[in-house]
Amino acid sequence: MYFQLSEEQLGVQEAAKTFAEKELLPGVIDRDREMRFPTEEVKEMGTMGFLGMMTSPKYGGGGMDTLSYVLAMEEISKVDPVAGVIMSVNNSLVCWGLEQYGSDAQKEKYLRPLASGLYTGSFCLSEPEAGSDATSQKTKAIDQGDFYLLNGTKNWITNGSTSGLQIVIAQSHPDQAHHGINAFIVEPDWEGVSIGPKEDKMGIRASDTVSITYTDVKVPKENRIGDDGFGFKFAMKTLAGGRIGIAAQAVGIAEGAFRLALDYSKQREAFGKTISKYQAISFKLAEMATEIEAARMMVHRAAVLKDQKKDYDMASSMAKRFAADIAMKHTVEAVQIHGGYGFVREYQVERMMRDAKITQIYEGTSEIQKLVISRNILNGILYPPSIV
Ligand code: CAA
Repeated sequence: MYFQLSEEQLGVQEAAKTFAEKELLPGVIDRDREMRFPTEEVKEMGTMGFLGMMTSPKYGGGGMDTLSYVLAMEEISKVDPVAGVIMSVNNSLVCWGLEQYGSDAQKEKYLRPLASGLYTGSFCLSEPEAGSDATSQKTKAIDQGDFYLLNGTKNWITNGSTSGLQIVIAQSHPDQAHHGINAFIVEPDWEGVSIGPKEDKMGIRASDTVSITYTDVKVPKENRIGDDGFGFKFAMKTLAGGRIGIAAQAVGIAEGAFRLALDYSKQREAFGKTISKYQAISFKLAEMATEIEAARMMVHRAAVLKDQKKDYDMASSMAKRFAADIAMKHTVEAVQIHGGYGFVREYQVERMMRDAKITQIYEGTSEIQKLVISRNILNGILYPPSIV
């Protein structure tokens, strides 16, 4: 296991930290209150290279490793988890999936603008009746010779109304269950694509979450990703990497709340001394720091496994399950340490507590992660592979 970050990785971490503090922090409370998408900030993230970090420079990306990406994800999510999820979906679910499994023509046409930040992408898997049970796709894409005819509705789509490209998972051979599923590249301005209103959410309120309906949308044959029937494996492989990014987002949220609670505890006085001097508070801080560091190590481990081209599915589910639960637990503690101030917007931690909750839900609930982990265990794989 490594313990030393390279100069390049430290540079990426520092750049993300500076960007988050200068560009994201100033408007974060207002954007949350007003459910306002960070349009200008996302543009700037594209210019700085945060939207295509792992994509090869051949396609306009940064060519960085997964560890650099999670370091940046943590720094950005520490301040603004909305920017974190936009970045995560684009990097992990869209750019990575396209680069790994797309055709050369698809990469030329779509990956370059995505990785260079010209537009973002969305990943359309969930449906009104298929969230955790991703094999039960009701959206159909039926082969009509020159094109597929796409019909159905997708739910909870991050970047849904702002993206320039949608990766849509749909069933092409209903008699073949998940072996009949395909993944397609769909452009949002094609006839028959209809985007619903923005969801009014508990957390990550500024992010763009919508449902999308497809009515007789003609998808050219060349926009299918991979061989016929590859769509479910495509989604699973892509999500396994995506979960590392969301785990990093969760660590960032937990760390951000912890830092605020620490600062507050050193300033706030009660009964003649700062509250940090009471063990009731300092022990909470000790628990927070310990568990956040453990989660961070798990995230880094999953990232390094991916970089070393080892099996990272189990490690990514473990990291996401643990980091998401830690984020939820310690943002609640951060509110508690702040007392009444924690309950008002200005002090940030109430927003972080609301934002943390989604990390236990999207890209597979905590229960789905336990399913993935337990299947490995019951198949005799007790732990992820070791790192050289
Ligand atoms: N890599 C490659 N293949 C995989 C895989 C992986 N990680 N996981 C499963 N598969 C393959 C299996 O090998 C199997 O293939 P064969 O039949 O050919 O052997 C096939 O997929 C089916 O696997 P299972 O039998 O394990 O399928 P299941 O239905 O029992 O379980 C699941 C699958 C793990 C529950 C899966 O449905 C799942 O991950 N569900 C959660 C979906 C999810 O994460 N949704 C999030 C939506 S996206 C989102 O949130 C993005 C956003 O906007 C932020």
